[in-house]
Amino acid sequence: MIKALRGFNDVLPDEAARWHAIEAASRKVFGLFGYREIRTPVAEETGLFIKTVGEETDIVKKEMFSFKDRGERDMTLRPEGTAPIVRAYLEHNLDKTEPFQRLYYIGPMFRAERPQAGRLRQFSQIGVEVIGSSGPSVDAEVIDVMIKLLGAAGVKKYELKINNLGCREDKKKLSGLLKDSLSEGAVSKLLCEDCRSRVISNPLRVLDCKNEGCKVVVRENFKKTEFLCGDCDKHFKEVLKYLDALGIGYVIDPYIVRGLDYYTRTVFEVTSDSLGAQNAIGAGGRYDNLVKDMGAEADLGACGFAIGIERLLLAMGPLEKGSAPAGGVFMATIGEAVYMEAFKLADKVRLSGVACGIDHGARSLKSQMRSADKMGARFTVIIGDDEITKGAVVLRDMTTKEQSEVAFDKLAEEVVQKLKRE
Ligand code: HAM
Repeated sequence: MIKALRGFNDVLPDEAARWHAIEAASRKVFGLFGYREIRTPVAEETGLFIKTVGEETDIVKKEMFSFKDRGERDMTLRPEGTAPIVRAYLEHNLDKTEPFQRLYYIGPMFRAERPQAGRLRQFSQIGVEVIGSSGPSVDAEVIDVMIKLLGAAGVKKYELKINNLGCREDKKKLSGLLKDSLSEGAVSKLLCEDCRSRVISNPLRVLDCKNEGCKVVVRENFKKTEFLCGDCDKHFKEVLKYLDALGIGYVIDPYIVRGLDYYTRTVFEVTSDSLGAQNAIGAGGRYDNLVKDMGAEADLGACGFAIGIERLLLAMGPLEKGSAPAGGVFMATIGEAVYMEAFKLADKVRLSGVACGIDHGARSLKSQMRSADKMGARFTVIIGDDEITKGAVVLRDMTTKEQSEVAFDKLAEEVVQKLKRE
């Protein structure tokens, strides 16, 4: 039997209901803030991610699904959404026509990581990108949207960690400081092989090495000293003031850099203990150089985040059974002779815009009632020989248990009217 690829999961119908709930709740939150949806393709030219996410990052070095198409073009299944969105923003000239954009996206991303609970090769993100402003209130708004999303999904226990990487120049200083404190022989020996080369090629990446040993070495040997310029320091303080004004709690963590090279100034992540090793539900930050680096004429500040839907589902707890939305009619039949009439009648109900369930094959009334329950039917109709003779059915309201006789040709209309009155 052919099985799904490792790290590529199926979402079965029971679970899909929770995905819908999360997506609907997110769209509601985005609507409150005026974010509009953008959809970009799942595959992009490989160079897009190398240039933006960064050549030395784990994502680009080890995790991309890259291949040549039949025309020998280098393609990559998108590992993240920010770079494609900035590409689309520039390709469609939004920088010239409507530079300030509040955008959101929901969709699959691909990273060839070792699969484990909460870490998949195809996973989905819900994210936002605000492009066209470098104001600190944007950072706070983006974080607020993320927190509101967690609230809408019912996630209560989490921690927001935030840090300031500074501008490009500041990051260079920070890299230099890291290099100085970690490249010295005795210290460098304690790092993993990857980090020993990272210290030379891209020292910031040492800070997000997943290896526990490297984390300890960094914390013992690198004490953050001043590297921020006045503007970046001021920006961050303003962001924190906005967060305070919104009543959003946070912890400042000087070791957060995030695993993508494009970040500048504010970076943040939300973690939850209930998730185990893969404890980051969502993360994001500001990327003030990326839009210009990718071709915009002027500097355009930008900031965004992405939440992993699978991790959000884990943080929300186990699946609730029977979460299908209630409503509609279930058509139960007694005896094969009446099935064709019931089948036609069910279709009429659907044509009037009301869901109508009917089982296939000769099933007992008991199992048909179970189907009605599963569907969360608001009404049931039982059709047997008598009903066919009379040309009318008994319509049973599953909430009030009231029953009424309704002619076949009035059934759809009657159900619509009853539902309208609610
Ligand atoms: P990221 O931190 O790489 O950021 O990913 C964001 C979230 O995606 C993670 O916190 C996690 O919940 C989820 N995620 C990442 N990898 C996996 C995986 N292999 N399996 C399951 N879930 C995963 C970004 O992607 C940035 N583009 C976020 C951003 C938007 N920054 C600015 N704007």
